[in-house]
Amino acid sequence: MRLIMKKLKYIVAAYAVFAAFAYTFTAFDNRAFSGQEEPDVSALQEKAQSAIMNFQKALKGELMAAMQKGGPKAAVEICNEKAPQIAEKINLDENVIISRTSLKVRNPGNAPDDWEKKTLQNFEKRKTGGEAIKTMNASQYDGETFTYMKPIPMMGMCSACHGTNVSKPLYEHISQYYPDDKAIGFKPGDIRGAFVVQISSEN
Ligand code: HEC
Repeated sequence: MRLIMKKLKYIVAAYAVFAAFAYTFTAFDNRAFSGQEEPDVSALQEKAQSAIMNFQKALKGELMAAMQKGGPKAAVEICNEKAPQIAEKINLDENVIISRTSLKVRNPGNAPDDWEKKTLQNFEKRKTGGEAIKTMNASQYDGETFTYMKPIPMMGMCSACHGTNVSKPLYEHISQYYPDDKAIGFKPGDIRGAFVVQISSEN
């Protein structure tokens, strides 16, 4: 009898191992992960880059239209309301989580986590070392989630709201939404922040 119990234990253990394996492989149905122990980094990078391109394009379009129509004051609402909505749409369309972060944030909700902060500091170092912002990126995979970061350059059209000379009435308007704002004082060519794209292996 004891022998049978022992055997049964082995069978249960073996089944559990098998089930865990089967689960692991069926859970990985995101194409770049499927059936592989190591993720296909270049496929994931491509997916992240395409999400960033679509996000950037949509955001810039909305921002420029709002600036032309109602000036920077009206455009603050676009950044406040539309940016998260556009991100949400990209997330659903492309099965990713996209966001923006910075070493100096306007919205505290965009503050970087530890890895993001280190990566942003590293981007600054690389820029000081002479590397072009345009070609910089970084990624990591923690066994569950692939995270990709790409710096966002400060441009002329951003100066109205993030520059060294933001008009007083506009800044008062911004401060009503963001009393803890740190996102001013940037010059064209600076790194304003970065896009962050997370792609999960389990969706
Ligand atoms: C009309 C004012 C306005 C303009 C112009 C503008 N921004 Fe912003 N920006 C904002 C506001 C408001 C937020 C906060 C959005 C939020 O709540 O997530 C923001 C947030 C950001 C963030 C997210 C990190 C943070 O600080 O919270 C980045 C990155 C950023 N802007 C970059 C840019 C760049 C690059 C440009 C130029 C292409 C630009 N912005 C132009 C108002 C503006």
